Amino acid sequence: MPSAADLLAWYDRHRRVLPWRAGPGESRDPYRIWLSEVMLQQTTVATVGPRYARFLDRFPTVNALAEADWAKVAEEWAGLGYYARARNLHACAKAVVARGGFPPDAPGLEELPGIGRYTASAVAAIAFDQPMVPVDGNVERVTARLAAVEEPLPGAKPRLTALAARFMEDPAARARPGDFAQALFDLGATICTPRSPACALCPWCEGCAARRAGIAAALPRKSPK
Ligand code: ADE
Repeated sequence: MPSAADLLAWYDRHRRVLPWRAGPGESRDPYRIWLSEVMLQQTTVATVGPRYARFLDRFPTVNALAEADWAKVAEEWAGLGYYARARNLHACAKAVVARGGFPPDAPGLEELPGIGRYTASAVAAIAFDQPMVPVDGNVERVTARLAAVEEPLPGAKPRLTALAARFMEDPAARARPGDFAQALFDLGATICTPRSPACALCPWCEGCAARRAGIAAALPRKSPK
């Protein structure tokens, strides 16, 4: 496994400045982290930025969201797709308020309405520094390339998830799980991109099995539909 310290050093220099990212010493409000992760599941980073700020202006806390009329929430969600997601968002806010706050770990978070494995691990890592690796498409791609996993998606998912979890065996990753998760997202979005990965700029270039085999751009493979 390549070293987490190398990725984190790269992240400290090149991380994207995004509205839901706390700087050093700033608080990490689980409400804000959760909202950003839910929005980012169906919408690009560029689109989420302004909508996220607007949503927070209107519903600045989980209490404000829980107490809002559904019609107002739906109105603010317009254009972000899938009303089911906004419904879950609203239901989740109510559940969080009813239990007195966000549960601080992934198993607790996964019990809330609309929170699946990915969102639970992202919020646990980023807001609560739990040693979790949230696995989205970026993380699957980075992991498939590092380990040169030839098995196609979606079949390879369990294997990629297990490989990604092993990143947390590295003490440098365990020291900064939220930054580590977001470093993986940024690596996948800016360097280890789907089509033409910029391997020459990658902090993990030397440890990457797909790069060594000359097949980085071809991974992850996909099963024909
Ligand atoms: N995609 C999903 N979550 C993200 C985050 N926290 N930062 C950047 N991209 C993301």
